[in-house]
Amino acid sequence: MKNEPYIYILGRKPLLSLAELLTQFPDKDILSIRPKTFVSKTKINDPQAFLNTLGGTIRVAKIFHKAQKKNVKSLEAEIPKWIPFLKKYFKDRFKSCDGKIRFAMNIYNIPHPREIFLKKLLNEVKRNLKETGLKVRFVNNNFKNVESVVTLKEKLISKKGCEINVIVGDKFFLFAETVAVQNVDKYSERDYGKPARDPRSGMLPPKLAQIMINLAKTNAKGQKNKIEYVYDPFGGTGTILMESALQGLHAIGSDIDKQAVQYSKKNIEWLKKVHKIGSKQKIKIATLDATKLTAKQLKENMSVKRLEKFAIVTEPFLGPPFFRFPLMEKLEEHMRFLDYLYTKFFEQMKEILPKGTIIIFVIPAFRDKTHDIRMGKTVEKICSLGYSVIDLIPDHVAKKYEIGKPETPSLLYDRKDQIVAREIYKFVKNT
Ligand SMILES: C[S@@+](CC[C@H](N)C(=O)[O-])C[C@H]1O[C@@H](n2cnc3c(N)ncnc32)[C@H](O)[C@@H]1O
Repeated sequence: MKNEPYIYILGRKPLLSLAELLTQFPDKDILSIRPKTFVSKTKINDPQAFLNTLGGTIRVAKIFHKAQKKNVKSLEAEIPKWIPFLKKYFKDRFKSCDGKIRFAMNIYNIPHPREIFLKKLLNEVKRNLKETGLKVRFVNNNFKNVESVVTLKEKLISKKGCEINVIVGDKFFLFAETVAVQNVDKYSERDYGKPARDPRSGMLPPKLAQIMINLAKTNAKGQKNKIEYVYDPFGGTGTILMESALQGLHAIGSDIDKQAVQYSKKNIEWLKKVHKIGSKQKIKIATLDATKLTAKQLKENMSVKRLEKFAIVTEPFLGPPFFRFPLMEKLEEHMRFLDYLYTKFFEQMKEILPKGTIIIFVIPAFRDKTHDIRMGKTVEKICSLGYSVIDLIPDHVAKKYEIGKPETPSLLYDRKDQIVAREIYKFVKNT
């Protein structure tokens, strides 16, 4: 089937992954959104190159068959109906391959556990393919969806391998072959392979940096925001700067700490050696206090006349790391400081930024089993300075696709047992 839509498999934080994808495709191209999958008819020339720019999507797959979902008693009972077209697909796909074929099958949008179903499906498919004369081996040894490392290690996107994804939709089962997969090694190389790391200031994962940069690519109305510059005023060791540079953007950063500035410079030098960074791309890093920024400082440091085609993407200082939930008194003291730091920065930028500038900003959320303390008052103060918060999952999208989303316009990036979680906000400068 030619020109069939692509399916995007959402990562560990599906809502953030979805928010990122919503910045990439026009509403009219979206065909479906389900808890773990997103389908768009937008034509993509190089799915792997495109996936490499997304932090939140783990696979891209191309649909080759749509099966009606009618009177379904159980998923297992559907398997015999699927065998004929799967057999045909494998036979065509591997007609000029004489060695042993490796394959995997994944299923999305069904509640856990999927092992019983996948075991039955894999064994049935294998048995039927053997009958057609194909030599096959499946790689889902534990009968779970395979991790992206396995897809890569087993070369499942190749002449002798394939990975089939079954997507459970409302009215159909979609069958799609993986055409691109997230390369975990490349992220590790950028995360752990860079020469300067500073665990004291928290380690922003490159994937999250990518998501944040992409979130800046639509404006307050959800239309394309053609940014050329990304500015990180709390630059740290330069994760956001590095990811911006890799996306072909001019990357400008500053930090109050001279050591952090040195670290970023070192990391950028390393990045330039191991990756292709355009010779015309500006990369500038300076020592500046984000609470005292002036237009003059920014223009001088960025070598630009106007702050146009420009977005701020940053994870600021989030406070010290906590290994257990702090005493309320101590936490309130930290929050007062962070409130000052953030509001002062926004106040300062108010005089500098043009109307409509997008600011992607991380605000900490302090959580454990009994607490969930957010900095909502700080967000209100920021808004009172002349900014608005943009909903990362717009209401019309949530309504149309019945997406359960949080009441806040922000989205959380957290890990189990993490006391300081990241709340991702998208602000726009109003006037
Ligand atoms: C979490 S780190 C930043 C991570 C960074 N955005 C990245 O992409 O890797 C926070 C940084 O904020 C810096 N910082 C704290 N207060 C600051 C201020 N007033 N002005 C500028 N930078 C500040 C710290 O020195 C630290 O490097």
